[in-house]
Amino acid sequence: MSHFADEALAGVLPTLSETLTEVTQAHFDEFIAAARQLIAGAGSLQDLQQQRVTLTGKKSALTTWSKQLGKLEAEDKKSYGASLHEVRSAIQDALTEQQQALEVAALQAKLDAERIDITLPARGSDKGRLHPITMTTQRMQQFFVQAGFNVATGPEVEHDYYNFEALNIPSHHPARAMHDTFYFDAHYLLRTHTSPVQIRTMEAGEPPIRIICPGRVYRCDSDQTHSPMFHQLEGLMVSKSSTFAELKGLISEFLEAFFGKSLTVRFRPSFFPFTEPSAEVDILADNGKWLEVMGCGMVHPQVLKNCGIDPEEYTGFAFGMGIERFAMLYYGIDDLRLFFQNDVRFLKQFS
Ligand code: PHE
Repeated sequence: MSHFADEALAGVLPTLSETLTEVTQAHFDEFIAAARQLIAGAGSLQDLQQQRVTLTGKKSALTTWSKQLGKLEAEDKKSYGASLHEVRSAIQDALTEQQQALEVAALQAKLDAERIDITLPARGSDKGRLHPITMTTQRMQQFFVQAGFNVATGPEVEHDYYNFEALNIPSHHPARAMHDTFYFDAHYLLRTHTSPVQIRTMEAGEPPIRIICPGRVYRCDSDQTHSPMFHQLEGLMVSKSSTFAELKGLISEFLEAFFGKSLTVRFRPSFFPFTEPSAEVDILADNGKWLEVMGCGMVHPQVLKNCGIDPEEYTGFAFGMGIERFAMLYYGIDDLRLFFQNDVRFLKQFS
């Protein structure tokens, strides 16, 4: 058996000789038929490359025979040359044809695999959306901006003068204790409320003043209803004629606008060092219980003085509320921590 034997050609090869002049035309024809069969059996382009090497490579019958052509007599050279040419073009044609067939099949398979089923429902776009705290802040701001308030902001790393001292909060006040407040050093801390913004605003400007201050505040507290970072919205009004009645009217209107229904609101006497008198605002819930929603009061004369405003000439009122609390009530959420876990399945529900 020839050293260029291939399994698929095995049937034909025993009849073939490596010596060109011993090969008959009938053998060439058989060889072509066997080669065509081998090529037609190539299942992939790699297979086909293998067959190409087997049939036309250095060790192939064709090459072995072709090398002998030069040594033949002119007559033999001519006839064997013609026969070998016929074999070679038959093999080339078969290879080209099979290659094209395989390429078409490969393309078809790719198209089939990548077919887009246009009858499937669309996946839908998943756009980002505002955080419920942001949306709540915007709802609150919308009311106050319409009522003529400007939005003011201030630093979150605050000096204790603005966070406590100027607000009339004495050194023994619990809010000033290390375990309630995040301190950086003896004087700088993360603000515990947005009230320092009212001090900065009064210091910097002349009455009349009408501002709201939304922002982050920080306290050493963490449980289902307390987070070490949360948001407040504070309001301040200073003019020659601000009264508690005006404060009550404004807050009652705000609450009804925010919750979108008429409410029973109560102002319960309370205490803040920076307001006098002070009150907590409660709303009557559907279950008959009072819910505390904010603190408020008339700006303490000492606080006005600290900011260079004459308390004999001007009066003011202030109010402050937790934004998370309003968001929880508005959306019916009972765990504050959900706002800060950033679970998209939770956040997606509010739009
Ligand atoms: N600053 C107070 C707090 O953080 C809230 C408040 C603001 C109360 C303004 C009265 C007036 O609890």
